[in-house]
Amino acid sequence: MSSKVTRRQFLNYSLMGVGSFMAAGMILPMGRFALDPLFKDAAAGSDIQTSIKVSEITEEPTKVDFTYNQKDAWYESEVTEFAWVYKDGDKLIALSPVCKHLGCTVTWAGDDGNPDKFFCPCHNGLYTKDGNNVPGTPPRGPLDQYEVGDKDGFVTIGKRFENELVK
Ligand code: FES
Repeated sequence: MSSKVTRRQFLNYSLMGVGSFMAAGMILPMGRFALDPLFKDAAAGSDIQTSIKVSEITEEPTKVDFTYNQKDAWYESEVTEFAWVYKDGDKLIALSPVCKHLGCTVTWAGDDGNPDKFFCPCHNGLYTKDGNNVPGTPPRGPLDQYEVGDKDGFVTIGKRFENELVK
């Protein structure tokens, strides 16, 4: 039996080789994309230091900006959000400004008739200072809380979680 490769076999092997190379070129990036969260570092969710001093925080909710890097697959961007932060005795409280009705941004004392409440201008939603939604207004749940701390005298903001002040 001859071990000579025919022209037809040579063509088949060549096409299989090129096809495999092209398939690998397409499949490997898709696999990397699918597994991307596994390669992310553990920095997400860690406490973020802000530029606001703890000594500046009073019992009146204050807008505290915080910035973090967001990595979405290969796209990296800097995102700035904020929390409403106030003191309850010695304890720091941080609330999310995202309304639990349809996601608008709430303001502290934004309604002249309710100077001691958070107000959502989209549909006149109201929340008490601890984030509890006022019955009879559109929001169906309390504002979320953020982990909040003190690092070297500056406010830090951590993970967001369900409001535990109003349970
Ligand atoms: S989005 Fe806030 S009351 Fe509707």
